Amino acid sequence: MLFILTNYSNSMKVKKDFEDDHIIEQMKMREIIEQIEGGELDLDLLDELENHLKNHMFQEEEYIFPAMAKMQNLRLEIAGFQTEHAALWKLFSMIHADLGNGKSDKIEKYANEIYKILREHNSREEMFIYKLMDDKAIKEMEKERPVGWVCKKMRDKNFL
Ligand SMILES: [Fe+2]
Ligand SMILES: [Fe+2]
Repeated sequence: MLFILTNYSNSMKVKKDFEDDHIIEQMKMREIIEQIEGGELDLDLLDELENHLKNHMFQEEEYIFPAMAKMQNLRLEIAGFQTEHAALWKLFSMIHADLGNGKSDKIEKYANEIYKILREHNSREEMFIYKLMDDKAIKEMEKERPVGWVCKKMRDKNFL
């Protein structure tokens, strides 16, 4: 039976969904690292995580960050989050490039770097952004990024 909590606000639900995303992303990344250490990588799992992560970035960059950027003191922090999104994006591209070229010596390094950035990034987002979200900041969100969507700092020509 499902009990409907009428006072459970939209922002609390969104916050919970985003925090759950962080947990899933970190778990999947850990699993990928363990596979790499064991000498076998499930490419479907890698794609699943990458897709999940990029949809999450899309929702943050297109909906959450613009709403929260109204708070002046968060702007610098948000720019940092966007830079980290681009770094994660780039690291996934580097893994794919190496897999495509049959090179595997640096994949473990890239995967560990993703995990390190992700853990730190996620806990800071929870602290600076999710904690402060209220219903006014949250509107209806598309769950999946449109085909061809690229995170903001990757669109900036001068980045990386
Ligand atoms: Fe993020
Ligand atoms: Fe996030």
